[in-house]
Amino acid sequence: MWEGKAPGKVILLGEHAVVYGRPAIAVPVSGVEARVTVRPGERGSGVWLECCDLPAAAEGKERSHYPLREAPAGDPLRVAVLLGLTHIGIAPSLEPDLVITISSTIPIARGLGSGAAVTTALLRALAAYFNHPLSLEETSHLVYEVEKLFHGTPSGIDNTVIAYQQPVYFVRGEPVELLEVGRPFHLVIADTGVASVTRQVVGEVRQRWQVERTHCETLFDAIGAIVRVARDSILRGEWRALGPLMNENQALLEELGVSSPALDRLLTTARSAGALGAKLSGAGRGGFIIALVEEEGIVPVTEALERAGAAQVLSTCVTSPSTPDPR
Ligand code: PMV
Repeated sequence: MWEGKAPGKVILLGEHAVVYGRPAIAVPVSGVEARVTVRPGERGSGVWLECCDLPAAAEGKERSHYPLREAPAGDPLRVAVLLGLTHIGIAPSLEPDLVITISSTIPIARGLGSGAAVTTALLRALAAYFNHPLSLEETSHLVYEVEKLFHGTPSGIDNTVIAYQQPVYFVRGEPVELLEVGRPFHLVIADTGVASVTRQVVGEVRQRWQVERTHCETLFDAIGAIVRVARDSILRGEWRALGPLMNENQALLEELGVSSPALDRLLTTARSAGALGAKLSGAGRGGFIIALVEEEGIVPVTEALERAGAAQVLSTCVTSPSTPDPR
C-alpha cells in the first residue's frame, strides 16, 4: 500500500487582496490532514475510488465507492487522478488496476484547504505507487491546475502552502517565499459551522471591485501593507505584533463586506477571552476565524469559543523547519 498525506491550511493575513496581486501569508494546520492510499486492484478492474470520511453530499457524490470511469467528467477526484496519471506518463486510456482510498479530517468548504489537500495527498500517493518522485513545485503546480477548474480564479496560495507544508509569503505569479518563523506561535481556529463558497464570495468581491474600483484598491493596498509588516514581525520572532495586525486586517475585510454576524460573534468571543488578535480566515461569510493566543491562552480561548457555539475548535503551532526550539 502506498500513501500520500497533506495538511490543512489557514490564511493568516491577506485573503482577497492576494487575488489582486497583493501579498498574503498562509500557514499549514497540523491537526487535520488528508490521507490517500493506493493499492493494486483486481486485474481488469481499472481505477476504483473509495472515499472514506468525505461527506458524500458535500463532495457532490452519491456513492463513496465507485469506478473512476463512472465518475462524472467534472468530478474533482477524477480530474486529479487523470492529471496525476498523465503527469506520471501513463496514458489515461491504459487505465491501471488500482484502488485509491481517500480520507480527510479537514472540514469541507470552510477555508481550510480541504480540496487542495485531498488533491495533494492523491498526487503524492500516485507518485509513490508509480515510483515517480514529484517535487514540491511540481505538486503545487498540478494542484493549482485542479483548483483552477473548481474555484474560478484562485490566487494559488492554497496549493502553495499545502504542497510546501510550510508558512509561505505569497505573491501571485512570483516565486514562493518560504517564511522562516523566528519564534513559534499559536493560533486557535474556530468554525462558524457556516459553509463558505470561495468561488461565490470571490465573485461578489470582483463585482464590487468593478463598481468601486478605487475604494477596493485602497482597501487591498492597506491589507498588503499589513502583510508586509507582519512578514517582518514573523521573521524577527516578534509574533505578538501580529495581534493588532490581524485586528486591522479584519476591519478592512469587514469594509470589503466579507465578514458576517456568525464570524463577528466568534471574533468578539475570542478577543474577550484573551486572544491578542483575531480575524476571519479564507473567503469569509462563513468558515473559520483564527485567533492569536499565548500558549496559556489556548485552553481558555478554545473553551470560550465552544461555549459561544463554534462547530469545531482546533489549534495549531506555527513554526518552520528553521525555527529554533523554544525549550
Ligand atoms: O481559504 P479559501 O480557500 O476560502 O480561499 C480564500 C482565499 C481568497 O484570497 C479569498 C481566494 C484566493 O484564491 O486566494
